[in-house]
Amino acid sequence: MNTTVMKMTEDNLNADDLIRAAKVLRCGGLVAFPTETVYGLGGDALNREAANKIYEAKGRPSDNPLIIHIADRDSLAELVREIPEKAQKLADKFWPGPLTMIFHKGEKVPYTTTGGLDTVAVRMPAHDIALALIRRSGVFLAAPSANTSGRPSPTAASHVIEDLSGKVDVIIDGGAVGIGLESTIVDMTEKIPIILRPGYITKEMLEAVIGEVRSDKEILPDEKDRRPRAPGMKYKHYAPKGELIIIEGGEQEVAALINQLAAAAHLDGKTVGVIATSETKAYYKNALVKSIGTRKEEESIARGLYAVLREFDEAGADIIYGESFRSNGLGQAIMNRLLKAAGHRMIKADGAGEF
Ligand code: TXA
Ligand code: MG
Repeated sequence: MNTTVMKMTEDNLNADDLIRAAKVLRCGGLVAFPTETVYGLGGDALNREAANKIYEAKGRPSDNPLIIHIADRDSLAELVREIPEKAQKLADKFWPGPLTMIFHKGEKVPYTTTGGLDTVAVRMPAHDIALALIRRSGVFLAAPSANTSGRPSPTAASHVIEDLSGKVDVIIDGGAVGIGLESTIVDMTEKIPIILRPGYITKEMLEAVIGEVRSDKEILPDEKDRRPRAPGMKYKHYAPKGELIIIEGGEQEVAALINQLAAAAHLDGKTVGVIATSETKAYYKNALVKSIGTRKEEESIARGLYAVLREFDEAGADIIYGESFRSNGLGQAIMNRLLKAAGHRMIKADGAGEF
């Protein structure tokens, strides 16, 4: 398949290209597009064949449901059985934005899109290219992250081109994304809503609007019994090609242990990578050191994480040691993604050992 790459920016939408891309979507084709979180791979959410094409292009198991993207609040009622009051409040506050909500699905939504579930995930992205594309096409867009299944989510068009060139009809290059981690997912079918995937919209932000919100046990890094409610969270995700191990503890202890491990791996003839921050970058020796951002601004770390994981792939890193990021707020989402990329391998630098 020939993939057309279209360049545009939020400030300068290209009307002709948008019309072409919208037509592709109406005809059941696939268009990758930027959102404020990560790039998405869009197809007509109510068209089974389009949904199947998405699974195929990504190499994604078809029991892993897709998020439906809408451009107008009124569209929600067409896709779901009911809209709980709390969901209404969250939509008022956070849409358009990086929040996905799970509802009982409406009849129009095919099981192909929901991976066989009776529930459906919906979000309204805060990105002018995404919104314009949905409106122009006149269809709702089922859109998972536009990466090959198992690779880090794409935060730049070059990542999408790397993974999906030749497998999709159109890739819209809208530059780098703003947030860099996927949306927060909240299950609204429960009386007390449950966070299934942490993201930019934190538990505290949700609770300020609707009161108590729970977290799916899966997202707590220390939890041994991991049976996630979001099917996608059970797969080893966002994985770099090299082995990734997270080192946890105080700044000095982490740096000392990483240097020790890096030196040993280096002697073994391995190409060693270190995921550091601008504050700690200078500590490391015997390794390819990449800073993903500054600890003073967690947003910068969220934005830089996936690109750095891809860079280590390109550099042929055999083993990667990563600093840990544990705090409330965005730090929780960052750690959730890092631990997933590491297949939950973490070593405590204070001597408590690996768990
Ligand atoms: O920020 C985002 O959410 C990006 C952009 C493109 O919008 N999309 C994204 O989609 O991250 P994806 O497919 O990579 O992740 C969707 C996650 C998966 O873990 C999936 O299992 C879960 O949402 N999910 C979708 N529908 C669900 C449902 N009905 N019940 C539970 N989990 C669901
Ligand atoms: Mg994904």
